[in-house]
Amino acid sequence: MPRQLFVTTALPYANGNFHIGHIMEYIQADIWVRFQRMQGHAVNFCGADDTHGAPIMIAAEKAGKTPQQFVADIAAGRKQYLDGFHITFDNWSSTDSPENHELAQSIYRALRDNPDGSLIETRTIEQFFDPEKNMFLPDRYIKGECPKCHAQDQYGDNCEVCGAVYAPTDLIKPFSALSGATPVLKNSEHFFFKLSDPRCVAFLQQWTQDGKLQPEVANKVKEWFSVRTNPDGSTSEGLGDWDISRDAPYFGIEIPDAPGKYFYVWLDAPIGYLASLKDLLNKRGQSFEAYMANPALEQYHFIGKDIVTFHTLFWPATLKFSGRKTPTNVFVHGFLTVNNGEKMSKSRGTGLDPLKYLQLGMNAEWLRYYLAAKLSNRNEDIDFNADDFMARVNSDLIGKFVNIASRAAGFLTKRFDGKLTSEFGALGAELLADIRSEADAIADLYEAREFGKVTREVMLLADRVNAYVDQNKPWDLAKDAANNEALHQVCSVLVNTFAVLTRYLAPVLPSLAQAVQGFVGQRMDDWEVDADVQAIQPYQHLMQRVTPEQLDALFEPKEPSAPASPAHAAPKKIAKSAPATVPADPNAPGGEALAPTITIDDFAKIDLRIAKIVACAAVEGSTKLLRLTLDVGEKNAQGQPTTRNVFSGIASMYQPEQLVGQLTVLVANLAPRKMKFGMSEGMVLAASHADEGAQPGIHILTPWPGATPGMRIH
Ligand code: 2FM
Ligand code: ZN
Repeated sequence: MPRQLFVTTALPYANGNFHIGHIMEYIQADIWVRFQRMQGHAVNFCGADDTHGAPIMIAAEKAGKTPQQFVADIAAGRKQYLDGFHITFDNWSSTDSPENHELAQSIYRALRDNPDGSLIETRTIEQFFDPEKNMFLPDRYIKGECPKCHAQDQYGDNCEVCGAVYAPTDLIKPFSALSGATPVLKNSEHFFFKLSDPRCVAFLQQWTQDGKLQPEVANKVKEWFSVRTNPDGSTSEGLGDWDISRDAPYFGIEIPDAPGKYFYVWLDAPIGYLASLKDLLNKRGQSFEAYMANPALEQYHFIGKDIVTFHTLFWPATLKFSGRKTPTNVFVHGFLTVNNGEKMSKSRGTGLDPLKYLQLGMNAEWLRYYLAAKLSNRNEDIDFNADDFMARVNSDLIGKFVNIASRAAGFLTKRFDGKLTSEFGALGAELLADIRSEADAIADLYEAREFGKVTREVMLLADRVNAYVDQNKPWDLAKDAANNEALHQVCSVLVNTFAVLTRYLAPVLPSLAQAVQGFVGQRMDDWEVDADVQAIQPYQHLMQRVTPEQLDALFEPKEPSAPASPAHAAPKKIAKSAPATVPADPNAPGGEALAPTITIDDFAKIDLRIAKIVACAAVEGSTKLLRLTLDVGEKNAQGQPTTRNVFSGIASMYQPEQLVGQLTVLVANLAPRKMKFGMSEGMVLAASHADEGAQPGIHILTPWPGATPGMRIH
């Protein structure tokens, strides 16, 4: 019986392009989906953009677009990645679609009107409100002085200097990161999903602990039933209720019967899975309700380990208590790190940009194969390593597998008119039968998402085929026409084993499988491994090797794209000759590994001075830059005080008037640089996270009181 499967990947926020982590998840899910299809099962594989929430609303405003236009522009960039990496979603939708609005509201109503008692409760909470922007501020947009260590400019929920965890209301001198205004406390009615309701707790205990989840995931989830951390750092027993509402202005879905209230983005995001499916079925003229009502329907979500709570607590409970089908399982993967911990050549520094990979003409299936080789069904992190990549692609994939076909094809075409024999000889028949007999074991590995084991198993089989080639030496047989029959047999065995191995790898290498289909005249997208190949078409080269130059180009550090990119007006010269590039690493502090050690003499070359911002203005023609006039305590030959002009790429974070009068830190001996807008005489220091998408914002440095303009920083 063909199974009915509904499969999703996590919906990416529509505020940035895909990064390699997204692509890894999509490739993992796509391999599994393709495998299921090869088994004859019916799969609907759905994705969508996750469009709602404050960060996207604010990013759109900064970009001068409506949120709808902003997310539409991001969505328009998706296809090139998905097509490029052969990722075959059946549908790609948006959480701002009419289907999602309608589904989210009806799911909410069902929770509210649950016949056994409402799962929704309202409570008045006190929250910071920005009187200039006229909006309640999410914690991440409130900053101030840490109540513990008194570090300045700390976020509303924790201090990055001393690690203290607190509520935004504990901050000293809080200010809005959006407007700089001092926020005021204001009451607001919020809607809560009562996760602490005994029905929810009982259901979730069962759903998360019945053995379906990966053991490490189930163990983690178990902890949340006993203790949780509150916003102020204290702990409480058991599951807490979930605040699912946000006040206008908010880019989101309106809560029914509650004017000015919107669903928190994480309420409607997973509902977007269903909305994308509904959109797909609508387009096909199928009934969504009938499809979902099938008790045999299986529903799977591929996600990263950072969003487990949402998918193992909130989401199943949302579905369960609104009377819907709960997920069959959630498959959690780890993060992908790139060239982690490896000493790198200058040219192989940074992260792996998937679009650059494609634009360099690198084969998508190299990456699919490499990731498959590293993936298991555990949620462990995996590392992309350039040398390992080259070895696995060139030595394993091409050297062991792809070459099998080329070793046999020429003889068959030239000597036997492309026809194969079904007489394989004793050794050949045994080899072929052995390879075919692995079909079930390999299918089991795919089903269990043990793709690394699949590739290892297939490479072991390829080793056996290559040993058979070495034993039988077709190139020697070809020297004497008396060996024609043996040559015909050996080459026919090789092409048949190649066809079987191609099927085994087809979920990973769909495009290569397609080419092989033309070569052997058999479908490669089924699991019919026992059918003998009858004849071949002339062999066309199937796959190139990856070269070190391609990998060097892939990891070559990016030229700064704008004069002040990412934030400072750093002279290009300096950026290029920076001592070493630092690998992006989501687990490292600030998202990037520490730079190589320098000596105190190296550091002494950089002259850092306290500077006072005496004037600050927007720069006409640039959305990124602010023009700073700095007093560094300098005088001209006549003894008159002078100032410096410095451009800094911080316009997205600060209003000019906020900065005037502030002290900051200047790299005072940086060679002056001529820019489109004038001369930049130094660089102001600022901090930012390596992954702007993960943690947006750029923060200039301020000294403690007592420092005065001109003082050197030692
Ligand atoms: O973490 C994220 O990137 C979210 N946008 C994932 C949402 S998954 C689903 F719930 F929509
Ligand atoms: Zn602190």
